[in-house]
Amino acid sequence: MTTFSRLNRGFDILTIKKDFPIFTYVSLEKDDINRELLNTISDYRKKNPESIRTNVNANWRSGWDLHKVSEFERFTKWICGNFDYVFSYHLGKRYDYSIIDMWAIQYESGDYAQIHDHYPFHFSCVYYVDVEDGCSPIVFENSIEVKPENGLLIIFPSFLDHEVPITEKKRTVVSMNIAISRDQNLFPRGV
Ligand SMILES: [Fe+2]
Repeated sequence: MTTFSRLNRGFDILTIKKDFPIFTYVSLEKDDINRELLNTISDYRKKNPESIRTNVNANWRSGWDLHKVSEFERFTKWICGNFDYVFSYHLGKRYDYSIIDMWAIQYESGDYAQIHDHYPFHFSCVYYVDVEDGCSPIVFENSIEVKPENGLLIIFPSFLDHEVPITEKKRTVVSMNIAISRDQNLFPRGV
């Protein structure tokens, strides 16, 4: 019987530093999107008032599967269009990907999100549907703060740590995780 005891001495660890992009964009269609989306979230919350407990301590957090809810279909397609744009225009890629999770959170005064990441997914985003002036930012890697505004979309690599410090003001957001399955430029269909 083979043993692997010679591996048990463990690994040496090298470290490397690299800059990773955080993409931000304020939609020109934000007023139309947000009016419809806020109503959709409010209706959904009335039918699904129970809150999912996670790293987020918020007044209400939906379940994980809003992308499967027909009322969110238009918004889900709009978000995917933005992912496609970032991948092709900024990264020079044409990825096939799947939406794994989509959820909404409504923060009220005193709410927060503990530091966390969305690994092992590849990219995540947060979209600000309705935020009050003076609400808490999202803070990436304990160093970069992005101040929310209505219509702001942030797309970021899922492994980046981020948190929301205790907010004094309300903020309603929708987030998504995606997993890339293939780079169509590298691997032709069927391989
Ligand atoms: Fe997060």
